[in-house]
Amino acid sequence: MQRRQFITSIGTIGTLAAAGLAKPLAAASADAASAESTGLLNGTPAVFAPTPSSLTITLPLREAALAWIDYGETPKFQFTAASDEWGFVPHDDKVAKIRLTGLKPGTRYHWRATLKPLKGQGKQIRTRVYSHKTLSPKAAETRFSVWNDTHDQAATIQKLHSLRRDEDDFLLWNGDLSNNVNDASRLPGIYVSPKGVDLAEGPPILLTRGNHDVRGIWANKMTDYVDFPTGRPFYAFRSGPMAAITLDTGEDKPDSHPSFKGVAAFEPLIREQAHWLERVIQHPALRSAPYRVVFCHIPLRWTDEVQANYDNKEWDHVSLRGRAVWHDSLVRWGAQVIVSGHNHRATLIPATKKFPYAQLLGGGRGISNATIIRGHADAKQLRLAATMIHDGSIAHEISFNPLA
Ligand SMILES: [Fe+2]
Repeated sequence: MQRRQFITSIGTIGTLAAAGLAKPLAAASADAASAESTGLLNGTPAVFAPTPSSLTITLPLREAALAWIDYGETPKFQFTAASDEWGFVPHDDKVAKIRLTGLKPGTRYHWRATLKPLKGQGKQIRTRVYSHKTLSPKAAETRFSVWNDTHDQAATIQKLHSLRRDEDDFLLWNGDLSNNVNDASRLPGIYVSPKGVDLAEGPPILLTRGNHDVRGIWANKMTDYVDFPTGRPFYAFRSGPMAAITLDTGEDKPDSHPSFKGVAAFEPLIREQAHWLERVIQHPALRSAPYRVVFCHIPLRWTDEVQANYDNKEWDHVSLRGRAVWHDSLVRWGAQVIVSGHNHRATLIPATKKFPYAQLLGGGRGISNATIIRGHADAKQLRLAATMIHDGSIAHEISFNPLA
């Protein structure tokens, strides 16, 4: 299982769409209305979990509908994804999540969703045409951006989205998209179609969960709306010369904290990731990578590492729980930098003898404090720059020479 998880996200060569996924279901009618005009689509789509051979498209729905995706390397849409792993044509009344598989690495695919109402006499409708690229482990270089701690702040997300770059291979949204999830009806607006932006107009999204994404009685429904490369909240991937490990730091207080109402079980998840890490760092695609980066929401280092007094409403600014069981593997692997958020203060902590990985934090929440972290790696260097979104100034930057 653990090995499969890694291969799923690292695999480099895919075959074209499997027969079951490539059969056209029905041609979209020529007079199909736009998705927006019928209201069948509850917002705009989003694309998650890019791997070298797959992409997942999420369609928030306002009513019960069948959903399928026409796609191909040109807008002629050579293939149709219209069946799930259980033999159903994807359908739901809240969200359809469709994974395109068997894709080629580093290849741009054009796609369009079609929705057909399951009740009443409503018209079949389709979305506009979007295009997204799969990950490319063998590319000579990679570019990406990192958002963190957007906390459902529409103005911040709109500004971040306006800074998107077509050349980015992925957007790493590094946790705390939400402010606790106690109302499941708010999930699509938080995770798929935030107000005023069309996330599908940007690069595909890789997620880590923040403490606010795992907090609240319906935080467990987030995975209905998003996807991760392996189906788990931790994974490893390679994009050009950079290998990345993403980790789930869970909550910022112990699972037993009374505010969690008994739903938190992140301490076992942290231990499971420790076992997974020991193995995944041995994988050739990770072990041989010129650059080695970790993404996780709560940082593994902080400027003031004091034990929080949880009875006095304090919380962890650093995941000492995670670091205690992950540190040795990260050092053995040669992790160069941990990229995090959580403390809402753009910060750079250089590597030391005791902690041979640097720690970079983005800012957060309000436009005046939020950052976009730009990443670029080629044969010469990996460079990360945390840029203030309100004026474009660079708060912190760091670069690394290749390890191998
Ligand atoms: Fe946080």
